[in-house]
Amino acid sequence: MRFSNKTMLILFFTLAALLGGCGIQGAAHRPAEAPDRERREISIYITNDVHFLAPSLHDMGQLYRRLASGSDGKNIEALPALLGALSMTVEAEKPDILLVNGDLTFNGERQSHESLARYFEELEKTGIQVFVLPGNHDISNPFARGFFNNELRAVPSVSPGEFAAIYRNFGFAGALSRDRGSLSYVAEPFPGLRLLMLDSCKYTNNRTLGFPELGGAFSEATRKWIRGEAEKARRDGALLVASLHHNIMDHHPLINEGFTIDDAESFQDLLAGEGIQFVLSGHIHAQEISTRQREAGAVYDIATSALAVYPHQIGVLTAAPAAASPGPSSERSSAWEWRYAVKALDVESWARVVGLADERFLDFSQKSRDYFMMVSGNMARRRLSTSSLSDEEIEALSSLMGLLNSRYFSGTSYLNAQDVPASLGYRLLQEHDYEFFSSYVRTIMEDRPPRDTELTIRIPER
Ligand SMILES: [Fe+2]
Repeated sequence: MRFSNKTMLILFFTLAALLGGCGIQGAAHRPAEAPDRERREISIYITNDVHFLAPSLHDMGQLYRRLASGSDGKNIEALPALLGALSMTVEAEKPDILLVNGDLTFNGERQSHESLARYFEELEKTGIQVFVLPGNHDISNPFARGFFNNELRAVPSVSPGEFAAIYRNFGFAGALSRDRGSLSYVAEPFPGLRLLMLDSCKYTNNRTLGFPELGGAFSEATRKWIRGEAEKARRDGALLVASLHHNIMDHHPLINEGFTIDDAESFQDLLAGEGIQFVLSGHIHAQEISTRQREAGAVYDIATSALAVYPHQIGVLTAAPAAASPGPSSERSSAWEWRYAVKALDVESWARVVGLADERFLDFSQKSRDYFMMVSGNMARRRLSTSSLSDEEIEALSSLMGLLNSRYFSGTSYLNAQDVPASLGYRLLQEHDYEFFSSYVRTIMEDRPPRDTELTIRIPER
């Protein structure tokens, strides 16, 4: 999606208003009044993989625009509008909490972190409490760059300590507990609810390596700290919600190396053993819910798709006291019902509110889908360009790739069964083997249970 300079200028000033005004000083979170457990549900909005690049780090030049519209489908140019739409949604719906589960920045630029921190400061004026975690792009990233005069310019990234200082008001300063060996912490937004915010990133060797490590892991010491915090939450009768950037199980048979944490099965056992039945994650950029049955019970990994990538949706997690189970009152145990769903951000309404007359925002959902399908289709067009296929066949396969990828990233692959088998692209796939392309398309064709966009879990009171 291409935006004109004028549109970008308008967006820039809108974002500047959004980001401007206040510094990042201020009091750490004070635990808010607890929601009435009998009458009110807890609502937690979730986003990740924002990949924000501060407006001060580019001049909207050609190089920036080429890199911002990368082949991985990230739509960096639309982020000011998406953050505007997120603010509008939060203002209107007043959720209790926003979790931002890593990959906050494009490549860990200090200025991008500082801009986002100011944005969160503004957002908290609506009454929401924001909590952040780092992702693999965010800390000690040797790739941090500005984009000026069609040249890349190295800019400072941040150390782990600087990350915690910049976001001190968004989890770190008011933490109930912090892990000594990582940026993991426990926050208590209000009495009775604890957030287990887990830093799964490996940034220690980034400088030596010359690139940011993609994968994630938890050391034995951090695992011990997690067990201790789970035990404390149990003792205090608090609900516990666990978040991290990386995935704790494979979401895709081909794309999992560097996505799923090291020693994932033992970590799933740890969570199941502590009664933590689900985690919130990101990193893979697609909307995916997976589950594994462990000896101590089932564990779910709910990966919310990337804010920067179509369909630009956020996760919505609500918790409410579940209706009492039938049986003698002495045997009834109270439980909480957790519901996860997704919500697309309404950029169209935001554009109308701020007075933009640009179709690319007024018709954002469609345009962003077209853009994502084009980028996905281009991957296939490039791969198949040297094959012996006709232009019509290449186009059929590329369009199929666009459609399947758009559904896979949205968590709606279940729709494929309705219309894909009758398509020319699908028939070609049955008849020929296009190596990785064929394997990839087959793996995103089918929707493996559970559904990727909604989940309900009942958890007994701790
Ligand atoms: Fe990531």
